[in-house]
Amino acid sequence: MQVENKKEFRPKIVAFCCNWCSYAGADLAGSSRLAYPADVKIIRVPCSCRVNPMFILRAFQRGADGVILCGCHPGDCHYTTGNYYARRRMTLLFSMLDYLGVENGRTRVEWVSAAEGVKFSTTMNEFVEKIYSLGENVRLEDLRCKKD
Ligand code: FES
Repeated sequence: MQVENKKEFRPKIVAFCCNWCSYAGADLAGSSRLAYPADVKIIRVPCSCRVNPMFILRAFQRGADGVILCGCHPGDCHYTTGNYYARRRMTLLFSMLDYLGVENGRTRVEWVSAAEGVKFSTTMNEFVEKIYSLGENVRLEDLRCKKD
């Protein structure tokens, strides 16, 4: 039964990756032929702090089933403190998402360096598996776009 559900449901997963570490980590995963699901759509950003919390809400409104933010490890940000700001913002946002009806497991922050292709691949596989277990996200919809 579980396998049948997996075939029907293809999650839409948005991964924001900072240019300097996480995107390079994704690149390394690709060039090392480490597999991760094609359901993950990567959006490259200059730094994890470029990701405004509204981007994540908007992704959910537009039909994302999960959103993951990847950046440099604390202390390694190319812009020195960008990931500290991102971490604070995401902590606040994630604490409010439950109130909005988005389950905790649908969001995640992960630090992935340029040398961690294996970690990138493992993280994405785990995250996609988690989203499969949660199922489709139908709770946060942009009601302004409804026509009826
Ligand atoms: Fe990677 Fe800032 S440049 S988190």
